[in-house]
Amino acid sequence: MSEIARIEVGGKVYEYPVVEGTEGEKGIDILKFRADSGYITLDEGFGNTGSCRSAITFIDGGKGILRYRGIPIEQLAEKSSFVETSFLVIYGHLPNKEELKKFSMSLTQEAPLHENIHQNFNGFSTNGHPMAILSSMINAMSTYHPDLLEVDGDEQFYSAAVRLISKVRTIAAAAYRTSKGLPLNYPKKGSNYAKNFLELMFSNPHEQHVPSEEAIKALNLFLLLHADHEQNCSTSTVRMVASSGANMFTACSAGVCALWGPLHGGANMAVLQMLEDIEKNGVSVNDYVNRVKDKKSGIKLMGFGHRVYKNFDPRAKILQTAAKNLLDKMHIQDKKLEIAQELADIALHDEYFIERNLYPNVDFYSGLILSALNIPLDMFTVMFAIGRMPGWIANWKEVHDNKKGKISRPRQIYTGPTENDFIARDNR
Ligand code: ACO
Repeated sequence: MSEIARIEVGGKVYEYPVVEGTEGEKGIDILKFRADSGYITLDEGFGNTGSCRSAITFIDGGKGILRYRGIPIEQLAEKSSFVETSFLVIYGHLPNKEELKKFSMSLTQEAPLHENIHQNFNGFSTNGHPMAILSSMINAMSTYHPDLLEVDGDEQFYSAAVRLISKVRTIAAAAYRTSKGLPLNYPKKGSNYAKNFLELMFSNPHEQHVPSEEAIKALNLFLLLHADHEQNCSTSTVRMVASSGANMFTACSAGVCALWGPLHGGANMAVLQMLEDIEKNGVSVNDYVNRVKDKKSGIKLMGFGHRVYKNFDPRAKILQTAAKNLLDKMHIQDKKLEIAQELADIALHDEYFIERNLYPNVDFYSGLILSALNIPLDMFTVMFAIGRMPGWIANWKEVHDNKKGKISRPRQIYTGPTENDFIARDNR
């Protein structure tokens, strides 16, 4: 018999079904609770609220497990590519040879932007933050594809999805070059996804950039590790926007906005700034950790802690090794890697961090990789957005395909003034 939860409130008992996921996690379906009792459930910050049922990504934060469509992230990191993993995240299965070939070819074909979009970049200030340019341009892209605003069927979905995944890298590189006042590059046909992005970023009219194999491999890994992460702030934003029936471009543009914040995707930038500050100001790592522990300082150890992981973020483990390997191969001696290792060692043995289950998250090491690839600091969060695009698309699809879905519309506990009368302007 299925499990029942009983909630007693106001002298009455209400019964609700317990819903169980495929990995055994349980939730109480309280959809009818307000209608039955007049009470809502209040969960500020959604720390204990399941907002949907989803078959894309599984995380066990206590054990440090992350799987896309059931496949452990460690296996994907070792054996797959960003393009193949994107297909897996979106379609729910690993592509066969034909599917992968078609998908890769579509991504190559869709890499160039409509020539008129190039003109749009001139409308941004040269100091404009690339995240603002990225989100605006993803939204603007929808104006070039009016036929894809309503997705009705597999082919239309495919067209919209490959356009977004492919063009986001071209837009991202163009956003960077615009912010630096550099001429925009056109994608080259023979290059794979990661290589193409590095060429778009760093080639100049007088000199074609040739990225090294290790740089391409590291970028591919970075993107793959960011492909999805279930109901985080930006993905929940994408689902929220999608629930109103909004198109895929607009929903993903909203995802970029949510990702920008320093408590979310912006943390990779904040980590590198923190490491640079420690290096530049000659602060000892011990002193810095003590400052973090002093609540009055208001400083957080950026790249540490996670709403879901109360153990090592498995992506951080993979990136820690990848960052070290990349720097070794590129013969880069980066003091920041040493500082990061020292910070992690101290924090992982300190009562403050142990008590609160604070471990390094994905952002703690990713900045070191991006920095070794010469990606400028204000592009770090843009890189995260390129990687997260398949996850946003897969989540948009789940919402779109759910014919029983409702618009996302939380309730609130109102804490403002009770009813009072309008006062005439002369009497205020
Ligand atoms: N440094 C110092 N103390 C921390 C940190 C940190 N990085 N993170 C959490 N804490 C402390 C809090 O101050 C709080 O202490 P208290 O119990 O004494 O009040 C306790 O740990 C619990 O923290 P919460 O803020 O309640 O945890 P929450 O789940 O709300 O926040 C978050 C998670 C936002 C990631 C937080 O850990 C943080 O701000 N980390 C730094 C920013 C960061 O790295 N963000 C990237 C997250 S991963 C991603 O989005 C891709």
